[in-house]
Amino acid sequence: MHKNSVAVLGASGYVGRELLEILARHPNVTIEFTSSQSEREINGHRALPLEEAQKHLGDVELVLSCLPHGVSRPAVEEARRAGARAVDLSADLRLSPAAVYGLTEVFRPRVPEAAIVANPGCYPTAALLALLPFAKAGLLDTSRPVVIDAASGVSGAGRSPKRELLFAEVAEDFRAYSVGNEHRHLPEITEHLKPFAGEVDLVFTPHLLPVKRGILATLHLPLKQVLDRSAAEELLLETYRGEPFIRVVRNGIPSLKDVVYRNLAALGVAPVKHVARPMLTVISAIDNLVKGAAGQAVQNMNLMLGLEETEGLRC
Ligand SMILES: NC(=O)c1ccc[n+]([C@@H]2O[C@H](COP(=O)([O-])OP(=O)(O)OC[C@H]3O[C@@H](n4cnc5c(N)ncnc54)[C@H](OP(=O)(O)O)[C@@H]3O)[C@@H](O)[C@H]2O)c1
Repeated sequence: MHKNSVAVLGASGYVGRELLEILARHPNVTIEFTSSQSEREINGHRALPLEEAQKHLGDVELVLSCLPHGVSRPAVEEARRAGARAVDLSADLRLSPAAVYGLTEVFRPRVPEAAIVANPGCYPTAALLALLPFAKAGLLDTSRPVVIDAASGVSGAGRSPKRELLFAEVAEDFRAYSVGNEHRHLPEITEHLKPFAGEVDLVFTPHLLPVKRGILATLHLPLKQVLDRSAAEELLLETYRGEPFIRVVRNGIPSLKDVVYRNLAALGVAPVKHVARPMLTVISAIDNLVKGAAGQAVQNMNLMLGLEETEGLRC
C-alpha cells in the first residue's frame, strides 16, 4: 500500500510528541524524519537539527511543523520552496492569507487543496467551536461583549523549562494570566469570528490550571433573543450533525475528563437566569494537545492527502 511521507518538525515538544503518537497508529503515513534541537531520536524516529532537516524537506509530501512562533514560518516557507505542502501548528500563519485556517469543521471545503494549513490555537479552537453556531445563526447581540474565561493545563505552555511553571509554583494554585485582553490568541478568535458575526467585542481571560492537559472554556454569549436550553442544544446538534469529533452534551456540562487524550470537543449550554437581557453560557472542553493541536492537524493532513478525515484518530 502506498504510504504518504511526512516530516514532523519540533517533534521533541509536547505537541510534536503527541503528533508522533497519533501518526504511529496511522495506517497511511510514514514519518521520514523529525527535527529537534536537543534529541537525535524520538519514539524510534531519526531527529535532525532543524538546519539539517530543512535540507530534506523536499523528500516528503507534507511537513507538520510544531516549532515555536517565529521559527515555524521560515521552515514552512522552506518546505513550500522544496515542493512539500505543510500544516503549521504554530501561530505564525493563522492570520495570513498565505494559509487556510484549519478549524476543520468550519473551513473543511478549503483544506484539501491548501498548500499550507494554519492549524488553530488551542484556546481559539475551544472558543470558536462554541461561538460560531450562534454567530452564524445571527443570534449574537453584538452591542454587548462576549466574555470568555478559559483554563488550560500546564502543557499548553510547552516543554521548555520556565520558573513560573515549576510544580511548586503551579500545584494547588489557580490563576489568571494575560488579564485585560492581553493574550495573543484574542486577535485569532476575533478575526475568525468576523466573517460570521462582524465586529464583536470579546473579553478573553485565560487561566492556568494545575493539570497536565485540557482546556475548559466558559463563554457568556449576549443574545438578541431568549434561547432555552433545548433550542440552544438543537442549534449545536444541527450545526455539528455528522461531525465525528464534536459532541453536544444534552442536559449536562462537559468537563476535562470527557475529552483528555481524545480528538474531541465537547459542548454544553445553559441559559443564564436572573439577568435583564438574554444570555447563554456555553462550556467547551478540549484536550489542548489533541483537538487543540496534533489531532486537528491530523484531520487537516488527512484531508490534504485525500484520506479519510478520521484516519488515525480516536474520539
Ligand atoms: N502546547 C499546546 O497546547 C499547543 C497547542 C496548540 C498549538 N501549539 C503550538 O505548537 C507549537 C509547539 O508547541 P509545544 O507546546 O509542543 O512547544 P515545545 O514543547 O516548547 O516544543 C517546541 C519544539 O520546537 C523545537 N525548537 C524550539 N526552539 C527551536 C529553535 N530555535 N529552532 C528549532 N527548533 C526549536 C524544540 O526542540 P528542542 O526541545 O529539542 O530544543 C521542540 O521540539 C508552538 O508553536 C505552539 O504555540 C501548542
